[in-house]
Amino acid sequence: MAMSEYDLPQHPEPHAPKVSGEAGFQVQLASRVYRLPPYLFGRINSLLYQKRREGSDVIDLGMGNPTDPPSELVVEKLAEAAHDPNNHGYSKSNGILNLRREVASKYFRKYGVRLDPESEVIVCLGSKEGFSHMCLALAGPGDTAIIPSPYFPVHMYAVALAAGNVIALEVADSQRFLSNIAYTCQHLYPRPKLLILNYPHNPSTVTVESEFYVEVVKLAKRYGFMVISDFAYADVAFEGYQPPSFLAARGARDVGVEFTTMSKGYNMAGWRIGF
Ligand SMILES: Cc1ncc(COP(=O)(O)O)c(C=O)c1O
Repeated sequence: MAMSEYDLPQHPEPHAPKVSGEAGFQVQLASRVYRLPPYLFGRINSLLYQKRREGSDVIDLGMGNPTDPPSELVVEKLAEAAHDPNNHGYSKSNGILNLRREVASKYFRKYGVRLDPESEVIVCLGSKEGFSHMCLALAGPGDTAIIPSPYFPVHMYAVALAAGNVIALEVADSQRFLSNIAYTCQHLYPRPKLLILNYPHNPSTVTVESEFYVEVVKLAKRYGFMVISDFAYADVAFEGYQPPSFLAARGARDVGVEFTTMSKGYNMAGWRIGF
């Protein structure tokens, strides 16, 4: 397939990256940029654009954008809040306390998990940014992260940008996934430092029950890796199934964190609010 304008340059030598600009100026990208594979959604969007220009009626199954609007109540509250001049300054870097309190109370109501809004909840600019920055804080050169395969592209990019390495393990069978994690920890040196989980899983839709997380915590303690649970689809489940929270497993808070978002369950993807 031909490279599109959205693809990142692939370069075999990370220390010789050069992109031509105007008038012979050379933009020298950081070598970490060359660790990234082509941005899949960029490629899909450019193919989509091309097909639509050719007159094809294409159904977009690319990025999971909500098709419905947020609830009227949410939009009204936004309009009201926008009229308050006090709301246009910088907010606290970890998010306003009342919002963090609401997140903590939702976690208690829905999952029976007690979180301290002062010290255990922060607001981030969407969960993608949250877990990408968390990877920057936790992983560096030589560190390995296990991610689910097939993978949501950002799970791999977040680790690659942090200069870490990625092992993607097949997610279809949850028991096998667990034993593959154990096997990887036993045979890789240095051991994996990080495990990224994502249930309900995008793109495979695989789900798990709460016992799965109990096993994850045991493995994390046995092999010494940390866990990032990407719980983006916490509120998107059907036929009575309630996705369990990783944090509800005993000991989970000792070994990991969980990210949730307003993007999916509340149709607020453009608002960029995650926790
Ligand atoms: C698995 C997964 N995690 C995270 C996100 C992004 O969520 P946010 O809008 O909170 O950054 C998505 C969005 O498609 C997703 O599919």
